[in-house]
Amino acid sequence: MMNFELTEEHIAVRDAARNFAQNVLKPGVIERDRDQKVALDEIRQLGELGFLGMMVDPKYGGGGMDTISYAIAIEELSKVDASVSVCLSVNNSLVCYGLEKYGSEEQKQKYLVPLAKGEKIGAFCLSEPEAGSDATSQRTTAIDMGDYYLLNGTKNWITNGSSASTYLVIAQTNVEAGHRGINVFIVERGMEGFIVGAKEDKLGIRGSDTHTLLFNDVKVPKENRIGEDGFGFKFAMKTLSGGRIGIAAQALGIAAGAYELALAYSKERKAFGKEIYKHQAIAFKLADMATEIEAARLLVMKAALDKDQGKNYDQSGAMAKLYASKVAMEQTVEAVQIHGGYGFVKEYHVERLMRDAKITQIYEGTSEVQKIVISRGILS
Ligand code: CAA
Repeated sequence: MMNFELTEEHIAVRDAARNFAQNVLKPGVIERDRDQKVALDEIRQLGELGFLGMMVDPKYGGGGMDTISYAIAIEELSKVDASVSVCLSVNNSLVCYGLEKYGSEEQKQKYLVPLAKGEKIGAFCLSEPEAGSDATSQRTTAIDMGDYYLLNGTKNWITNGSSASTYLVIAQTNVEAGHRGINVFIVERGMEGFIVGAKEDKLGIRGSDTHTLLFNDVKVPKENRIGEDGFGFKFAMKTLSGGRIGIAAQALGIAAGAYELALAYSKERKAFGKEIYKHQAIAFKLADMATEIEAARLLVMKAALDKDQGKNYDQSGAMAKLYASKVAMEQTVEAVQIHGGYGFVKEYHVERLMRDAKITQIYEGTSEVQKIVISRGILS
């Protein structure tokens, strides 16, 4: 039977994430954005509360929760600080999920457990200077040397680039085999020849550390390859399908955060003799925002439910991300407009949410990539 009600567990997760966002994240969010400072202490606290490995089986140190709970948590945190929520999204959806689903028992014990407990942070390294949307065009190589792989190359725009300890690195092991000659490796911070390069100075999510990573003759032990030889590209596609639900939830949160601020402001601010929400020009904007945000939420929850029910979520995740990121971009612009001049200054938060919204149309697959996934699905 169809049911839109949240369970008690979902409500508890929502309230915990909401309280954390409002009480712990909000006070320093403007300064972190200004100074490009990572909320390391706050992320450590979120780790202690179980938010870094929410869906991981408790036997590996995780919270054993469903994807709906995860999406709710990401939405609530993103209402305030999308720089923190992207760190969590990458750790939960890409790194922990990838290790739990496809890693060996040894890899899970060694790498998944500390990531799920929030003791360490993970990064997912696919993008390259010349391989963004066209992810099969990997230039990073990992040559089989017998006991180890020799890793060489550059990765770009890596979230958690300097705060991570465990990196999942996609590399070409057999150029002739194309995407079937790609593998994924667990690379540890501190391995010789692994250099964390320049930090990006970004438009939005300025409190997240996005770096170039360089690999110069890094010896990666054989046992650090995940899955069968040649599984790397499918690994990336499968993990990204779940990652897109996390980013869709993030986009939803950014939109909903901006809407909540605009709604509250419209009840305080007076113009032409009455509160501005009493002007239809503002009331209609709020009506559009509320409707589109609710539609985005339903798509996010549908994709999360598909995953929880063991159904294919490539399509529904891509649809959720495509739509929620569009709503985030458009509705944060409207939130700034409702705030007028106040919307243009940092103190009122909506200008940051507007800047943060843009990345949700770019990372974990641009909107165009989502349309490739969706159109292939509906046309096949
Ligand atoms: N599950 C399993 N396998 C899949 C798959 C999926 N969802 N999607 C594709 N594949 C397989 C295909 O079946 C095919 O394998 P076979 O030939 O063996 O059948 C292989 O992968 C290649 O697939 P395509 O021919 O469809 O590949 P393509 O070159 O046309 O690209 C694409 C498809 C959807 C555009 C893909 O390249 C893509 O998703 N690109 C975007 C990459 C991306 O999202 N990057 C984000 C970086 S990570 C990030 O942003 C994290 C962060 O920091 C926040």
